[in-house]
Order: sequence, then C-alpha cells, then structure tokens
Amino acid sequence: MTIVQFEHRDGILDLGWGHPLPSLLPAGAWAAATEEALRTYGWKALTYGHEPGPAPLREWIAAHVGDATPEQTFVTAGTSHGLALVTQLLTSPGDVVLVDSPTYHYAYKIFTDLHVRLIAVRAGDPDEVARAAREHDAAFLYLVPTFGNPTGRSLPGEQRRRLAASGLTIVEDDTYRELFYDRPASPALWSSGERIIRLGTFSKTVAPGLRLGWINAGPSTVIELARLGAVHSGGGVNHTTAMTMAVFGGSGAYGKHVLTLRQRYRAQRDALIPAADDRPDGGWFWWKELPDGIDAESLLPVAERYGVSFVPGTAFFLDGQSGHDRVRLSFSHLPPADLREAARRLDVAIRSVLGQ
Ligand SMILES: Cc1ncc(COP(=O)(O)O)c(C=O)c1O
Repeated sequence: MTIVQFEHRDGILDLGWGHPLPSLLPAGAWAAATEEALRTYGWKALTYGHEPGPAPLREWIAAHVGDATPEQTFVTAGTSHGLALVTQLLTSPGDVVLVDSPTYHYAYKIFTDLHVRLIAVRAGDPDEVARAAREHDAAFLYLVPTFGNPTGRSLPGEQRRRLAASGLTIVEDDTYRELFYDRPASPALWSSGERIIRLGTFSKTVAPGLRLGWINAGPSTVIELARLGAVHSGGGVNHTTAMTMAVFGGSGAYGKHVLTLRQRYRAQRDALIPAADDRPDGGWFWWKELPDGIDAESLLPVAERYGVSFVPGTAFFLDGQSGHDRVRLSFSHLPPADLREAARRLDVAIRSVLGQ
C-alpha cells in the first residue's frame, strides 16, 4: 500500500531526495491548529474558499514576509503549483522561458508540460541574461537565487540588484529563504524590483503534505490568477489547510517550529559537511565537486553498492553535457549519525573508483 512519494531502500543511505526528516514534521502542533481552526471558523473553514486565498492567511503571510501586502498575495498548493499557474498566465505554447543553469530539475517538466521552450542562462551573468532575453523575446527568467537547488548557493548582491533592475519579468523561487543556518538570507529580488513574481511554500518549513504556499505578485496579477478557470471553479486552493495554516502561523507555532528546524538542519548539514569552503549556509543541499577523473553518473551504481545514493549533477542541466563533475547531496532527511556514515560510504566509493 503506497502512501508516500519516497521511502528509504533497505541498506541505502539516500542523499538524493530533498525530503524532510520525518521526525521534524509537526504532527501534534498541526493537529492542534486544525482543531482550533475548525472551532474558530466552523463551516467557513470547510466550504469553497475565497479565490485568492482566505483573508486570515493572506494577512498573516503579508505580515510574516514583511515586504508584501495581502493584495499582493495569492495562496497556492506550493511552489510547484505556483510555477505552473504563473507559467500558464504569462506564456503561450512555444514562448521562451529562460532558466538559470544549473537549476531545480523538476521545474523543467512543469515548463514543458505547458509547452514552453527553455533556454539555459547563467543568472550570475546579468549581461548574458539580458542578451538571451532580447534574442528570444523571453516571457520570463526562472531562478532560485537564495540557497538554490542544487547548489545551496545564493546569488550575490550585485547580480541581484542588476537582475532586479533589468526590467525583465522574473519568477523568483524562494522555497528555502527561511532555512538559513549562519546568517539571514539576502533580501529577495521581489522586494527590490518591478516585474518580479515570488513563489513561497510551506513545504520545507511546515510539511510538504500540506501542499500549501503562495505567490507574491502585483495586485492585478493576483486578480488574474484568481480568475483562472480551475481557481474560479474550485475556489481558493486548499482552503481548509490554508485556514489551519493561518491559525498555525498566528498562534506562534510556526515561528517556534522554524527556529527548531534551523537548529536541527544546521546540525544535519554539519554532520554531512564538517568543513568545506563550499558548505552551504542555508537550504537542504550540498553541490559537491568530485575529484578529477570521477564521473557522477558512473559513480552512482558504485556508490549504491557501498550503500549510499545521490543525484548526479547532470540532472540539473538542460544540455545533457554539464554536471558530470558534481553530485547533489541532500542533508534534509537523515539524522546526523546516518549523514556521517553516508559521507564515509561516499568517500570509500570515490576512493574505490580512483583505485585507492
Ligand atoms: C527549488 C525548489 N522549488 C520548488 C520545490 C517544490 O516545492 P513545493 O513542495 O512547494 O511544490 C522544491 C522542492 O524540492 C525546490 O527545491
């Protein structure tokens, strides 16, 4: 009986999936918030919801992020859903979308499902982005500028400023903003430019099973999103869950939970990566460079024989060529002792390929 998207395979410490550690999912606090939401809002928490999202949650999100109003906030079923909705709204089949390279690999399928053409650019080179945008008359640029997937890295301030000021429509995937371990994240592109749409989610900070997140965009874009057929027909997205989230946020349970997550994921990061120049200071991933002569795809079956798994770097590039020298390692869903053991196994697998 299959219930969840992924469960560990026997004998393999899997660093491939960006899923939360099960014991960090707040089942008890969420149950209390659900009861409270139903007691407080009664039938209004269970019927069709207001199309852009219920006011209590839009107001809470706006106050929480601090750089958006409720009118600039549309409640979604998470970042993946937000990306699909925004792409549906901003593109026609055949239009070009620029994607940062490397980037979140599952976004590619969301785009191609909607029949847009993808062109890879390096968001760290705003001149290259501007040239590609002109050449292809691009609908928008998609990127994960903060604690990115797969790199764990954040775009430096200068590039942020230049992209935000470029006039190009930008879809900013801000999935990992709150999971910082050393210092708070840089301000979002959203808060410093025009024509920027930000995607937020509660998948990483509360639970992916909620399928709940939001879009920040101009009020007229929010109105257009609310008028989309599937939203108009079905009402506000995940309305009952959204009402529970408003209570979970407003009660202070969210803030407390995120503080715990930062401590726990920091400890998990440090277990996998005790010291490295490229250690990420937020998010869930380490973009580990392999020694010369090791190919990420060939390493995978060897690593699995040693009881550890990962995603080869090639998965995150559109060209099928780049990324052979990298692996993406997730430290999100194993406890520290397992992460230390996984790092040891990976090291042994690499040394066996090198013949050491
Ligand atoms: C960069 C990025 N965007 C989006 C998602 C998916 O987010 P959601 O669960 O809110 O759909 C993930 C999850 O792995 C991600 O890493």
